[in-house]
Amino acid sequence: LISSVSLRRVLDSRGNPTVEADVLTESGGFGRAAAPSGASTGEYEAIELPPSEAIAAARRLAIPRLEGEVHTGDQRAVDTTLRAADGTENFSEIGANSAVAISMAAAKAGADTLGLPLYQHLGGAFRGDNFPIPLGNVIGGGEHAKEATHIQEFLAAPVGAPSVAEAVFANAKVHGRASELLDERDVPAAKGDEGAWAPPISDAEAFEVMEEAVEDVADDLGFEIKFGLDVAASELHSEEGYDFGDEVKSTAEMIAYIAEMVDEYDLAYVEDPLDENDYEGFAELTDEVGDRTLICGDDLFVTNTSRLQDGIDAGAGNSILIKPNQIGSLTDAFDAIELATEHGYDSVISHRSGETEDTTIAHLAVATDAPFIKTGTVQGERTAKLNELIRIADDAV
Ligand code: PGA
Ligand code: ZN
Repeated sequence: LISSVSLRRVLDSRGNPTVEADVLTESGGFGRAAAPSGASTGEYEAIELPPSEAIAAARRLAIPRLEGEVHTGDQRAVDTTLRAADGTENFSEIGANSAVAISMAAAKAGADTLGLPLYQHLGGAFRGDNFPIPLGNVIGGGEHAKEATHIQEFLAAPVGAPSVAEAVFANAKVHGRASELLDERDVPAAKGDEGAWAPPISDAEAFEVMEEAVEDVADDLGFEIKFGLDVAASELHSEEGYDFGDEVKSTAEMIAYIAEMVDEYDLAYVEDPLDENDYEGFAELTDEVGDRTLICGDDLFVTNTSRLQDGIDAGAGNSILIKPNQIGSLTDAFDAIELATEHGYDSVISHRSGETEDTTIAHLAVATDAPFIKTGTVQGERTAKLNELIRIADDAV
């Protein structure tokens, strides 16, 4: 039984305040978790309130319904209580940041009460022993860095790695190799919010650098490494089309461009290739290239089962990005993963551009047998999750 929930403001990786929750149980279990925060957020995401407002509202509306009332062993009850306390569809009363922090902290307290690692508590005894392939952000721009590529993320995908640890190290090597290649081209490269290189080069050049970097590291390590993209196309999109600076692409041109890049670079993964309202465009692209690459909906689906169901009905995409804070609770994230799995969509568990040291998503990925996790490549708030994956594989959490 939950004995207390306390909330505070802590720093995220961008230096902004975010919500952290501590949950204590009567039998001495303890869990702590913090909400991440997006920059290229989807229009249909649950609402992130200013942390002090979210904390005040959760203290008033949600905490009294949890303390002494709900068991951490029943995650669905915790999250149903949060929803009932909030009373809206999108957590606009207590904030998805308060909700997700409490939801994740309660799960950790539940695991601690049982003396189990979080992935085991969430996944249970019938969990498989698969590990997610980490997608590592190597070069990027968009909303995460100024004066860099239009495509938000160029992601290493070490699909042939024999273990999760080797995959994690491979991505870091690709990141390092990309830096050398940019140096050779005399391109200065600062880092974006997620630690990816943010060079002032064209998207076409970024494709070339990525191709060379993954080939060099694959040759060196002796297993296959591909790469992929998060286009984050909603951020480029307006009524005129998709703005690439020197050119505005129509929807048809965008579909042709992405399909051409998939074939030219053998892309493993393409996230948000089109606007978040364009189910039809997603379906068309999925028809064209969905047999040879993942077409993933992030801003399109926002971890929301009803938007995912619309996508399934339309044939839009073949995979879904899962960000617990987009929807506000672990239960909602689990429901989205379950619906995806039922319909043959791959789940990609994901960080946000604003992160903390919280490692919940590493456990969530392992618990749900997710085939991929997107949680960066370098920098402490990213390596926190990557190193936790290595520990989980080592059964050392
Ligand atoms: P965000 O970006 O966290 O800034 O929304 C990540 C993504 O688009 O996948
Ligand atoms: Zn995205």
